[in-house]
Amino acid sequence: MNNTVCMVTGATAGIGKATAFGLAKQGATVIIVGRNGEKAEQVAAEIRQRVGNVDVVPMIADFASLEQVLNLARECHRRYTRLDVLINNAAVVTQTRQESQDGLELMFAVNYLAPFLLTNQLLDLLRKGVPSRIVNVSSFGYKQSAIQFDDLQYVHQFSHRQAYYQTRLAMVLFTLTLARRLEGTGITVNCLHPGIVKTNLSYNYMANPFFRFFEQVIAATPEKGAEPSLYLATSPDVAGITGKYFERKSMKPVSDTASHQGLQERLWEVSESLIEQYASIVK
Ligand SMILES: NC(=O)c1ccc[n+]([C@@H]2O[C@H](COP(=O)([O-])OP(=O)(O)OC[C@H]3O[C@@H](n4cnc5c(N)ncnc54)[C@H](OP(=O)(O)O)[C@@H]3O)[C@@H](O)[C@H]2O)c1
Repeated sequence: MNNTVCMVTGATAGIGKATAFGLAKQGATVIIVGRNGEKAEQVAAEIRQRVGNVDVVPMIADFASLEQVLNLARECHRRYTRLDVLINNAAVVTQTRQESQDGLELMFAVNYLAPFLLTNQLLDLLRKGVPSRIVNVSSFGYKQSAIQFDDLQYVHQFSHRQAYYQTRLAMVLFTLTLARRLEGTGITVNCLHPGIVKTNLSYNYMANPFFRFFEQVIAATPEKGAEPSLYLATSPDVAGITGKYFERKSMKPVSDTASHQGLQERLWEVSESLIEQYASIVK
């Protein structure tokens, strides 16, 4: 991965931090995206010290603000002429309904719409880095979900589980639509389930203390959880493979819901309208 520029979102904890570490170890320049400047600086310094790779660069954006996502894309354009790998990993789980700075349900904003905007704003840099790769971290829980077009923001009958899984399904639908749109460009895009991994997110996901305890006992380490992201981002085995869903390192068929092209395109259109005022600013 020498001479490659890789961006990992949500790289200040859990799977994202382990992914950033793994990329730095392979010699890549790694952009660590975090919402907290101090924490991002600390993680970058820790990776630099452990790996001896000086090219670990913290960048700040709270994904609860589309303006900040746009500023992140601007900074990336200011500092780099190309991007080889983008790993959309950041996500949050909230037990109660919360809103982003743009008035959207927080998980929808952070886990789906922010990466939708960021990816679209970075496509020109990814084009300059071809063959380049986009890796979208999702969850196998996407299969338990639907896209609630009549209440996308879960204003009525909020269920943290359903709202979270909606964002994971949205990432799979986004992956498949984007892969179609990028066909023949040299940019591949795939999505994955990392396994059950011991992180802040998996801890917050379980409301019931018994299940929370049980899950934390069986969960894998973040290093193990990072393996599928690293595999899809770097392995020659998956060079040229696009529009696929992986559980750990195995390619799996997507659910009937996720493979519905009408649904994929409808979500894309709705997402575009939600980011309309932020689109086409970065070029
Ligand atoms: N853990 C599992 O068992 C599991 C299972 C299936 C899928 N996943 C997926 O794996 C990915 C990584 O999750 P994880 O388990 O590693 O979670 P995690 O340890 O909680 O890490 C989440 C990362 O996202 C960042 N983040 C949260 N809210 C943000 C915001 N508003 N703006 C910018 N960044 C924000 C966090 O920043 P801070 O450090 O500031 O909190 C952190 O760096 C997610 O996409 C998740 O859906 C995880």
